[in-house]
Parts: sequence; structure tokens; C-alpha cells
Amino acid sequence: MKFFIDTADVGEIKEARALGILDGVTTNPSLVKKSGRTFKDVATEICKLVEGPVSLEVVSIDCDGMLKEAKELLKYGSNVVIKLPLIPEGLKACRRLSQDGVKTNVTLCFSPVQALLAAKAGASYISPFVGRLDDVGQDGMQIIPEIRKIYDNYGFETEILVASVRHPIHVHQAALAGADVATIPFKVFGQLVQHPLTDKGLAQFLKDAEATKA
Ligand code: E4P
Repeated sequence: MKFFIDTADVGEIKEARALGILDGVTTNPSLVKKSGRTFKDVATEICKLVEGPVSLEVVSIDCDGMLKEAKELLKYGSNVVIKLPLIPEGLKACRRLSQDGVKTNVTLCFSPVQALLAAKAGASYISPFVGRLDDVGQDGMQIIPEIRKIYDNYGFETEILVASVRHPIHVHQAALAGADVATIPFKVFGQLVQHPLTDKGLAQFLKDAEATKA
């Protein structure tokens, strides 16, 4: 499974990249706002820093506007993936861009049938938002194995990119369900590696090693 980081904070991307397990980056307008920088500055820096795919989101809500924006976003680098909302105009734009060989990430997906539509439109990635479904009292993770099954039934190559990840259990369940990618917030990256028994065991090993030095 690939790991993307869900952030527009360059410092966080550098730290996650240093772990040697980072495959790409996803951003959205809210994450860019949170970074306190302009979209242009952030996109320029991230696309240079990261070799893997970098999702940059359009903010138009009509197909022509999305296509126009995509043309500009693609100038940031050859690794840019155009992030499109899962609305009818977004699907139209997805079809057009995929026909032109442009990578797309269809975002704001909350149901398996929406994911089916995105795959039919030729999306490179589908982003189901599991955490936001949890927030409204649904089991967000439940849709991931269903999307996997639907894609496998028909041989769709669209990659399932589990988004709105809130904790390590989401990553665990995404991996079990056969998701292709999880886009993970920086805080959760930190939590993934931690286990109290690892720390306890290491402390004991270091203590015992010290005792055998003399
Ligand atoms: C995905 O690409 C989105 O940027 C993101 O995962 C949304 O997460 P949130 O629900 O925590 O805002």
C-alpha cells in the first residue's frame, strides 16, 4: 500500500519524507489555508520537493473552468494530479482529462456508487473520505471493501486512495481492505510507528547492553 501525506505544510512533508516511506502528497484548499501561505508558493515548493504524485485541487465548479485550472496546475510539475470534486461537472472534467492522459484524483467521495462513477469517468484515484463519514455517525471504513469489490468485479484500474484518515486504525483497516493508497495526516504518521511495548523493550535492551559493556 502506498502512503501519501495529507498536508500543505512543507516542514511536515520533509519530516515524513525522511522516514523513507512516503509515496506522494495530497492537498486541498483548507490545508493550503492552514499552511498560512499562498497556493502558488506552496504548490511550487511541494512539487519540487516530492518526486511522487502531488494532488492539487481545482476550485471551479463547472467543467470548462476546471479544465482551464487544470492547465495552469499542470505547470507546477510533471507529478501533478488534478483533484476534482465528485459532482457531475467534475466527472465530465475527469473524462476529458483522462482522455488527454492527465492524472486525476476524484475527491469528496462518500459512497461506493460515487466511486463507480469516478472509475467509469477514468479517474486515476478515488478519494473516499472515511473520517467525515464517521463524523456523521456512519462507519466510514465500510465503503472501502465495497469499492474494492466493485473495482475488482469490473477490472477498473482507478486506485482507491483512502482519505480523511483520523487515526492508525483507519490505516490498518484500509490495508486489510486492499486499498491502494492511504493519505495520512502528519500526526497519524507519527502515531503509526509507536507502540508502548516497543519503547519498553528497547529501554530494557539498552539497559542490558550497558550492563555487558564492562
Ligand atoms: C483528501 O485528499 C483530503 O485532503 C482529506 O483527507 C480530508 O480530510 P479531513 O476530513 O480530515 O479534512
